[in-house]
Amino acid sequence: MGMVKEILGQSISVEAFSFQVSTRCYTHHLNSNKKHKVSLFPSFSCSSILTTPQELMNTVRSSAAAPAPIVKGRTTTIDDDLISNNNKGHHDENDDDGVTLKISASVSIKNSKELMEMLLDYFDSFNNNSVGDRGIVMQLVSTQIDPRTMEAKVSKKAVLDWSRELLFHGGGGDNNNERSTHKVEFEIDSNFGFPGAITVTNKYDKEIFLETISIDGFVEISCNSWVQPEKLHQDKRIFFRNKACLPCETAEGVKELRKEELRQKRGDGKGMRKVNSDRVYDYDVYNDLGNPSKGNEHVRPILGTKKHPSPRRCRTGRSPFITHEEYESCVNAFMETYVPRDEVFEGVRKEALDVERVKGITRNLIPFIRTCITKCGVFKELSDIKNIYKRRDEMKHDDDENPTLLPIHVNKFQDSFEDYFKFSTPHIITGNGCCIRDEELGRQALAGVNPLSIKRLQTFPPVSDLDPTMYGPQESALKEEHIISHLDGMSVQQAMEEKKLFILDYHDAYMPFLKGINAQEDRKAYATRTILYLTRVGTLKPIAIELSLPNNPEGPGEQQQQEQSKQVLTPPLDATSYWLWQLAKAHVCSNDAGVHQLVHHWLRTHACMEPFIIAAHRQMSVMHPIFKLLKPHMKCTLQINALAREALINGGGIIESDFSTGRYSTEVLSAAYKDWWRFDMEALPADLIRRGLAEPDRTQPHGIKLTIEDYPYANDGLLIWFALERMVRTYVNYYYRNGLMVRSDSELQGWYNEVINVGHGDHANATWWPTLATPRDLTSVLTTLIWIASVQHSAVNFGQYPLGGYIPMRPPLVKKLLPKEGDPDYKEFLEDPEGFLCSSLPDLFQTTKFLAVLNILSQHPEDEEYIGQRRDLSDWSGDPEIIEAFYEFSIELKRIEKEIEKRNRDQNLRNRCGAGIPPYELLIASSGPGVTCRGVPNSIST
Ligand SMILES: [Fe+2]
Repeated sequence: MGMVKEILGQSISVEAFSFQVSTRCYTHHLNSNKKHKVSLFPSFSCSSILTTPQELMNTVRSSAAAPAPIVKGRTTTIDDDLISNNNKGHHDENDDDGVTLKISASVSIKNSKELMEMLLDYFDSFNNNSVGDRGIVMQLVSTQIDPRTMEAKVSKKAVLDWSRELLFHGGGGDNNNERSTHKVEFEIDSNFGFPGAITVTNKYDKEIFLETISIDGFVEISCNSWVQPEKLHQDKRIFFRNKACLPCETAEGVKELRKEELRQKRGDGKGMRKVNSDRVYDYDVYNDLGNPSKGNEHVRPILGTKKHPSPRRCRTGRSPFITHEEYESCVNAFMETYVPRDEVFEGVRKEALDVERVKGITRNLIPFIRTCITKCGVFKELSDIKNIYKRRDEMKHDDDENPTLLPIHVNKFQDSFEDYFKFSTPHIITGNGCCIRDEELGRQALAGVNPLSIKRLQTFPPVSDLDPTMYGPQESALKEEHIISHLDGMSVQQAMEEKKLFILDYHDAYMPFLKGINAQEDRKAYATRTILYLTRVGTLKPIAIELSLPNNPEGPGEQQQQEQSKQVLTPPLDATSYWLWQLAKAHVCSNDAGVHQLVHHWLRTHACMEPFIIAAHRQMSVMHPIFKLLKPHMKCTLQINALAREALINGGGIIESDFSTGRYSTEVLSAAYKDWWRFDMEALPADLIRRGLAEPDRTQPHGIKLTIEDYPYANDGLLIWFALERMVRTYVNYYYRNGLMVRSDSELQGWYNEVINVGHGDHANATWWPTLATPRDLTSVLTTLIWIASVQHSAVNFGQYPLGGYIPMRPPLVKKLLPKEGDPDYKEFLEDPEGFLCSSLPDLFQTTKFLAVLNILSQHPEDEEYIGQRRDLSDWSGDPEIIEAFYEFSIELKRIEKEIEKRNRDQNLRNRCGAGIPPYELLIASSGPGVTCRGVPNSIST
C-alpha cells in the first residue's frame, strides 16, 4: 500500500504541476540588473509572465514533487577551483606537454522529480553555495596509460552544473518533456589518445539519471543509470564507451576501471542495502517469506537449504527478527524491498502496475462487503459466476431483485465503481458457459496457459517415483479395463506404441503434501492422474481420471486402505457419473493451476532466472558482449520477483490464499526444484523430447518431429527457438572464434561458475549442468536463457487471465472432495449437483480477488519491449554484422508472426481453430498494451 499511496500522490502532483506551469514562461531578474529568461516548458507559448524571484520560487515550490520538468541545458563549465584542488599532480604533468585540446560532449539527463527538487534547493541557496559545491563532475579516461605514471591518462575534470546554467542561460540544447541535453567541454592533452570511459561524481543532493554521453559525436556511451549523490556513495561511477569487448581485449587504460566497476556492483555482502540508492547485486536464501513475529503458524520454510533447495534471490540485508534470527524481517507499509537501483520499475511501468493494483482492490470492495454482510459469498449456480463478467446494468438488475441483500448505501457505492467492478470476459468462455468440456481439457494441455505438463504415456499403469514407505504403493489403480473401450480397438500396449496415449500426472507433485493441504480449512485436493487419448483428428480426449489420497494409517487393512485412497473415474454414462466426472475434472484443473503457477511459471522462469541475472551483474562487465546480449532479457526481473516475495509467494500472500496448496506452496515448488528441475532440460527441444512430445528426426526441418502434430505451443515455439538460436550463434561466433576464447574468458567463466556454485548452489554437484567450453556450448546456454526469459515466460504468463480467468474451468482451489455414498453431503449432491460443484469452488470474494491478480499479471505496460526489438542498438555501433544479425532476427519474427496467424486460420488444426476456440497467439512476438493474450516481451517483468 505504501507504493500505492506514493504513486497516487505522484499522479496528483503531475496534474497539479502541469496545470500551473505548463503554459508559462518565467522571467527572473537576478541582482536587479541582468534579466535571465528561464523556460521550464520551452515548447509552449508564453501566456503570462512571472516577474519576481519570489513568484518564481513559489511556483517552483508548489510543483516540487512533480516529475519530468523540462530543463534547458547549455552548460559548458570547467570549474578551475575544483580542478586545481582535485587534480594537481596530473595537471602539472600534462602542462609539461604544453598543448591542450578541448573536446565537447553532449550529456543527456532524464528529467525527474529529483531534478525538480534540486531546482528548488538551488533557488533556496544560490546566493550561499560556492560553485564547486554542486554539479556533476566528469572526467574522461583514455584507453592508453601514461608511461610516466603507469596510470590511465585522464582529462581535466569538467563540471556540469545544469541548475546554475538554468539561471544564467536561457535557451539552447535539445530538450523535450523527458530529457534535457547539456554540452560539456573537456580539456585533454594532445597525446590523450582515444576516450575509453568516463567517471562521474554527482555533487548534488539528489540522484540523477544519466542517459547518454556523446563525445564529439564519435564516442557513444550509453549510461542509462541512476547516479547517486557523492555524499551517499563515495565511489565514482564509471561508464564505458559502447564498444563490446572481451576481458582480454580491454584497453590498458580502462582495465582497472573494468575491475573496479564490478567490485562496486558486488559490494561487500554486509549490512542492509539502501532502498532506491544502492546498486549492489548479491545473493541470499528465501528466508523472507514468513512472519515468525505473528506466531508459529506464520513461519515458512527457508528456501535454499539442503532440506528445501531453491535458487537464490537478491540479497536485501534487512535485519532479522529478534526472536528468529534466521529469518529476515518483513517489509511494511513504509518500506519497499530492496533491489539494485537500476532495477526499480520506472515511469509508465510503475504507474501501470499500481493503477492495476488499485483497480484490483476496488473490484474486491463490493464482493467483500457483500460477503461480510450476507455471510454468504458462495456461488449457488454457474450463472452466478458468469455474472461477474456481465455488463453492469445486468448486475444492477440482479441486485434489484434482492433489494434487501445490501444496504442502500452499498448499492450507491457500487454505482460509482461501475468500471472497476466489471471484469472483461476471458477469451476462454467465448464459446463455453459451463465447466470445462472433455476435449477442451485436452486442448488446454496443448494450447492453454499451461502447455508444459502434458507427457506421452510410456508405462501403464503409471508408476510413482515417491518413496513407498512414506507415500504408499507406487503403483496406480488404473487398469486396462478402465480405458480399453476408448482406444479404437487397440490394446493399451498398442496404443502406447502408436503414441496415442498421454498423461497429465500430478501425483508426485501433490501426494507428499496432501495431508497438510487437506487439513486446511476449505481446501480439499487429490493427487490426480489423467489419461488422454489422441483422437484421429489430432485432439486429446480424457478417458480416465485417477484421484489419489494419502493412505489412512488408522484405517482398515492394507488392501482396503489402498482401495479407499485411490479411485478411478471414466467418462460418464449417466447423470450421477456426469457430475462426478465434472467434479473430477475440476480437481484435475486445480492441480494443473497450482503446478502451472508454482512450478512452470514462478520456479522455472522467475525464480530460476534470478541467479543468472545477479551473477551477470557481479561477474561480467557492461562492456562484455554477453552481458550486452543478455541485458534486455534481464530487465526488471529482480523487481517483479521482489514484489512477488512481498505479495504473491509470501506466507499469507496471493498464492497461499488462492491456491489449494495454501501454506505448503513453497514446499511444492522446492520439491519440484529438487527432484525435477534441470537447466539442460529447459531448452525447448530437450523439454519436448523429455516429455515424449518430440523425437529426434533428421528428415524434419529442425531435426525433431512432434508426437502430436497440432501442438500449438510446440509448433510456434520451435519456429522462434530456431530463429533465436540462429541469431545467438551468429553473435557468439562473432566474438568467440574458438573454444579457447570461451574457456579463457575469465568473466564469462566466472559468471557461469557462480551461477552453478552459488546462485543455483543447491544443484552445484549435479552432473547435468552443460559444459561451457566451446562457442557451441555458449550458444546453447544463451539461447536457453533468452528462451526462458522471453518466450517461455510469455507462454505461461500472458494467458493467465484470458485463458484461466473462468473459475469453473480452472479453479485455483477446490473446497470439497467428491461425495461418496454414505457421506453426509451425498444427498445434497444428488439433489443439487450444480450447487454442490459451485460450492466446491472459491467464493465470490476469493474469485474476484484472484481475477484481479490474474488481470494484473496478464498486462503488458505501454513501454513493453518485445523480442526482436532493441531500443538501444548503439551498443554495437562498431559491429555492423551484429546489427545485421539482430535485424534479420527481427524480420524473421515478423515472418513467424504471419505464419502463426495463418495457422490460426487453418480449420484442420483443431487445437487452435474451431467454434468458440480463441486463436493461439501467446507466442506472437508483438502486442499492444493491456491484456491481449499475445506478445513476447524480452524479459520477465510481470
Ligand atoms: Fe510472470
